[in-house]
Amino acid sequence: PGIFRWMWRLTYVSVLGTFVYIGYEIYQDRNPEPQVPRDPSKKTLVILGTGWGSVSLLKKLDTENYNVVVISPRNYFLFTPLLPSCTTGLIEHRSIMEPIRSICRSKKGPVTFYEAEASSVDVNRKIVKIRDSSDIRGDSSETEVPYDMLVVGVGAENATFGIPGVRENSCFLKEIGDAQQIRKKIMDCVETAAFKDQPEAEIDRLLHMVVVGGGPTGVEFAGELRDFFEDDIRKLIPDIADRFRVTLIEALPNVLPSFSKQLIEYTESTFKEEEIAIHTKTMVKKVTDKTVEAEASKPDGTKERVVFPYGLLVWATGNTLRPLVRDMMASIPAQKDSRRGLAVNEYLVVQGTRDVWAVGDCAVAGYAPTAQVASQEGTFLARLFNNMAKTAELEERIQTLSSSLNLKPGVNSASVTREIEEAERKLQRIKDIKPFHYSHQGSLAYIGSEKAVADVSWFNGNVASGGTMTYYFWRSAYLSMVFSTRNRLLVLNDWVKSKVFGRDISRE
Ligand code: FAD
Ligand code: NAI
Repeated sequence: PGIFRWMWRLTYVSVLGTFVYIGYEIYQDRNPEPQVPRDPSKKTLVILGTGWGSVSLLKKLDTENYNVVVISPRNYFLFTPLLPSCTTGLIEHRSIMEPIRSICRSKKGPVTFYEAEASSVDVNRKIVKIRDSSDIRGDSSETEVPYDMLVVGVGAENATFGIPGVRENSCFLKEIGDAQQIRKKIMDCVETAAFKDQPEAEIDRLLHMVVVGGGPTGVEFAGELRDFFEDDIRKLIPDIADRFRVTLIEALPNVLPSFSKQLIEYTESTFKEEEIAIHTKTMVKKVTDKTVEAEASKPDGTKERVVFPYGLLVWATGNTLRPLVRDMMASIPAQKDSRRGLAVNEYLVVQGTRDVWAVGDCAVAGYAPTAQVASQEGTFLARLFNNMAKTAELEERIQTLSSSLNLKPGVNSASVTREIEEAERKLQRIKDIKPFHYSHQGSLAYIGSEKAVADVSWFNGNVASGGTMTYYFWRSAYLSMVFSTRNRLLVLNDWVKSKVFGRDISRE
């Protein structure tokens, strides 16, 4: 009985502690401390973008050392790993959006935010041209923002490889608007298929959901879609449930090429159980408003033309350059051999420029375009800039002390010399900042039916696991990674709500 009493007390204290901690965090968010006043003599640091790279930088940056200006057409940070869950309403979209204004306001030093798109960067004049195209204005307005230091974190666009019909007919899955569009379109297909006296072939077409691209985005979306139908649509609209089909088309010989072999096999066998049809070695060549036309490679090496009629088409074939990045690369001679983004050195400085850094999907530093890489790069830059500010402060102090030693007779020269030596030692330590090094924590992907796959780094090795336990690990890992307490509670609430009441299938 004694041990149980102690266990009960321990549980009670930890639960109470968690509530107090959450309460304190919420109080702090709602009542931020006053910010230090703006100092125009400080250097202007302009950050482009409010994605993983830029926001990770902002979160760790000592903003009182710079005049920080953030520019992005999106006034929120988006937690992309949970975006596929928004397409079916498992998670509401606002639960994974974090207002950039709250992040800016939580900083010690003031941060200016402009909701605008950077249209060009002049690295010689150190100017960024920005364009505000808000609906309220009617037309667009352009202005210039000068910088001393610039960080480009504008991410990437959806690749279509110029395949005809893709832009006009597909949905992408990169932004909140994309997830909302998919959610509406799924229900449009379902309600139209359930409409009175529909021809059989039309019902089959409308209920055929095609996903192009077997990378993590395509696989996670296909899994979420299948869950939605099994958990909710089948119960609410049983008449059409058996006609529903999901097809995943991939040009390479297997899906999830970046995962280990056993997890690829596990994913493919799970998809088979979930009745998600996988067409590998199948390259999409053309898209019309109702069909996807592809070329499949047969085992004997011959090619076959395949046509997939579809109701919903989601295009997830990876990234390409944003026009801003393409223009910057064209204007900087040292970037002429780079193809996939702004080539950076080991300190993430854009090659061929001064005082310009790049992070995330728009930078080429030798790593995959993932949130994990972008956030580590952002955090690295914050450390670098915090150190640079301390360096400038120390150098100034050394200069003042040295001149007091030379100019003012009667100062205690021994103590001043000691102070100078101490400052120089500190300066040396700070200047010794190591180049950026990416530490891979592992890859995770949801594959439907409450199963996930994970390639996790463990003591310099790799552990591959798949299944329901991995799914719980996936959920808890992502929940802990969500940036704010508010969003964490919202996501948790959505998961519970969907489990208890089912997803909300009403179409806005
Ligand atoms: P982004 O996060 O895309 O941010 C770019 C920012 O720049 C945005 O705020 C945008 O509005 C802004 N911007 C765009 N153009 C301009 C302009 N001209 N001027 C100023 N600002 C501009 N990675 C993982 O590691 N794990 C995952 O589980 C994972 N899941 C994903 C799921 C989905 C559905 C998707 C699409 C991606 C996922 N990723 C994941 C990849 C990850 O989201 C990206 O690698 C990451 O977002 C890159 O960060 P970034 O800062 O470079 O760009
Ligand atoms: P991706 O680049 O990883 O995969 C795209 C796939 O589309 C490729 O396998 C390619 O062979 C295929 N493809 C290209 N053209 C095609 C065509 N015409 N026909 C058929 N198939 C075609 O892209 P994705 O999945 O959007 O991911 C982008 C980045 O984001 C990656 O770095 C990925 O690791 C990361 N990400 C990570 C997630 C996770 O860790 N859970 C989730 C989502 C994205």
